[in-house]
Order: sequence, then C-alpha cells, then structure tokens
Amino acid sequence: MTEQSDWWGSEFGSEYMLRNPRHPDEMQALYLRRFGMDRTTMNEEFLHAVPRDARILEVGCNVGVQLNLLARMGFTDLHGVEINPVAVEHAEVLNTDLPIVVEEGTALDLPFADASFDLVYTSGVLIHIHPDDLARVQREMVRCASRWIWGLEYYADNGHLEIPYRGQQGLLWKTDFAKAFLANAPGLRLAMQRLYTYLDEPGGVQDQMYLLERQS
Ligand SMILES: C[S@@+](CC[C@H](N)C(=O)[O-])C[C@H]1O[C@@H](n2cnc3c(N)ncnc32)[C@H](O)[C@@H]1O
Repeated sequence: MTEQSDWWGSEFGSEYMLRNPRHPDEMQALYLRRFGMDRTTMNEEFLHAVPRDARILEVGCNVGVQLNLLARMGFTDLHGVEINPVAVEHAEVLNTDLPIVVEEGTALDLPFADASFDLVYTSGVLIHIHPDDLARVQREMVRCASRWIWGLEYYADNGHLEIPYRGQQGLLWKTDFAKAFLANAPGLRLAMQRLYTYLDEPGGVQDQMYLLERQS
C-alpha cells in the first residue's frame, strides 16, 4: 500500500464519494458546466471505433458513474476496479440491471490476467497516483489491455506538477499522462488526444483526453 492508497481506501475516499456526482445526469451537467459539452459527447469522439461489445475496464471507478455513462452509450461488457470498499458497495446498488461489474482492488496490482480487456481506462485517477508509482500503474493498465488505453486526466505540458488537494500535499499531480504512457510502456502509439479548457476556473486549466493503441 502507498500513502495515497491509504487515503483513498479510508474515510477520506468515502467522503469524496458523498461529495461528488453519483448520478449520471449530475455528471453530465458537471461536464457541461466545466467544458461546454457533456461527457458522452467527449466519449463519442474518442470511442466511435470501439465495438459496443468490447470488454472494458475502468481503473478507479468509484461508484461507477463513468461506467454507467458507457452503458447508456450501448457498451455491454463493463468492469471496474476500485480501492474504496464503500464506493464498491454503492457501485453495486447504483448500477443494478446494467452490464457493469465492480470489484475491490488496487491500480498498483490489478487483479486481472494479461490482455484480459480490449480497453482499459482511467478518469481522474492517475492524477492521484504518486509520481514514483505512475510507471507501475501505467504498466499494469497496459498489461491488462489487448488493444486500447483511454483516459481523461488533469494536464500539464511542463513536467509533473504537484497541486494542493483540499489543502493537503501528496494527493494531486498533473502532467502529460499520454506522453508518460508512451515513455513507461513501449509498444503503444498515440491514436488521438484533445485538451479541454475549464470554463469554470481561471488560468486556462486543462484536462487531456487521449486514446492510445498497441502497435501491431
Ligand atoms: C477523482 S476519483 C474519480 C472517480 C471516477 N473515475 C470518475 O471519473 O468519476 C478517483 C478514484 O480513484 C480511486 N483510486 C485512487 N487510488 C486508487 C488505486 N491505487 N487503485 C484503485 N482505485 C484508486 C479513488 O478511490 C476514487 O474512487
């Protein structure tokens, strides 16, 4: 376990869950306010070539809202892994009757076989991994993916920058996570990337969405 895993697995992580959108419509509204487009519109641009029956894993899925949005887009084989046990319990209740399976586990040591998913992704999770652990997490994701890596993360083009998170150090960093994947896991190519500027924050803060593909 790392210091970051301890935080997310504990009461701190459960409080995050209670503070943030737990319904897909609330999540769509948040993206609309923040970026001027909802999350499904962003997803469609990157996932149009991914078959709807692709086996997909979200690492750090919390209560499964992102998975729920993918189910609404027609994806039929959705899996999540999450370090916070309370979020896993909520994910089960919130996603009943949808093709979503969530289990407890850590990004540092994913409980899945090599190449057992077509696509593995994160949304706002790599930003919470300590820079010393990032290569390990990214290699774990690539190990479990037979074809695609996808992500949306907080972006910086000038290094790996730490930002205080709720007044604390050691919890949030931003960087070019697509570039880090290419450096940490050979054999990938960048298929697509786009930067989204926050409309609800000053200073040109951006998120980066990227799609990486194994080179054949
Ligand atoms: C900012 S939330 C993002 C939740 C979700 N992906 C979304 O976009 O709504 C970060 C999530 O990653 C989880 N997490 C943090 N470190 C993790 C780790 N090492 N392994 C698995 N999950 C982790 C946290 O518990 C939390 O649910």
